[in-house]
Amino acid sequence: MSADDEKRAAGTTAAALVQTGMTVGLGTGSTAAWFVIALGERIRNEGLTLRCVATSRATEALAAEHGIAVIGLDEAVDGIDLTVDGADEVGPDLALIKGGGGALLREKLVWTASRQCIVIADSAKVVDQLGAFGLPVEVVSFGHVSTAARITAVLRELGYAATPRLRMAGTDAFITDNGGVIYDLPLGSIHDPGGLALRLKALVGVVEHGLFIALATRALIGGPQEVAVLAPGGAHL
Ligand code: 5RP
Repeated sequence: MSADDEKRAAGTTAAALVQTGMTVGLGTGSTAAWFVIALGERIRNEGLTLRCVATSRATEALAAEHGIAVIGLDEAVDGIDLTVDGADEVGPDLALIKGGGGALLREKLVWTASRQCIVIADSAKVVDQLGAFGLPVEVVSFGHVSTAARITAVLRELGYAATPRLRMAGTDAFITDNGGVIYDLPLGSIHDPGGLALRLKALVGVVEHGLFIALATRALIGGPQEVAVLAPGGAHL
């Protein structure tokens, strides 16, 4: 099974969990795209009535292509029943690195408003320790170089040698849906994700980081034979 087959299996399995009447958060990225596609099929074939909130402009466009109407997060006043989204790394206790697609801020806003969050991924995303994937941090574009210097100072204090790398789109800085820029932190391994998250979040100019801790309620991991279900604490269900 290729990574894409595993992503598709995880996304389709998650779409089968959606029930009519739900408010659903739609994640961003190539794995979440399989969820959106499968959900579109269920809406067409089964007539599900849903309210959906997208985590990025790209997902909003994909949803429209597949016949899924999208509302804004502020219209989902009662909260979101279920959000399904991908991840760059799935670590112990379902702590995640997200933001490889640059949508981490809207993703975290939607996840935080959700009663259940299911992370879907191919098996290569599951790791024993987070950090091999560079940790994305969204920063206000005004004065972003000085914010990056503050991030570097915090990293040194915490014992990391990494230097933040400004994410590029060709020759220009990558700009997020919210007008921010992203610095990727090539940390190698993150020994205390919770501590690092607090220190990054406290910095002036940092809007959000890609550590998603204690937010995922389940993981659906595509594999060669089947889709494995993981719960926080490491239980295989
Ligand atoms: C976007 C994300 C994505 O969920 C993450 O990058 C995984 O992407 P993919 O499913 O394409 O591997 O966090 O901001």
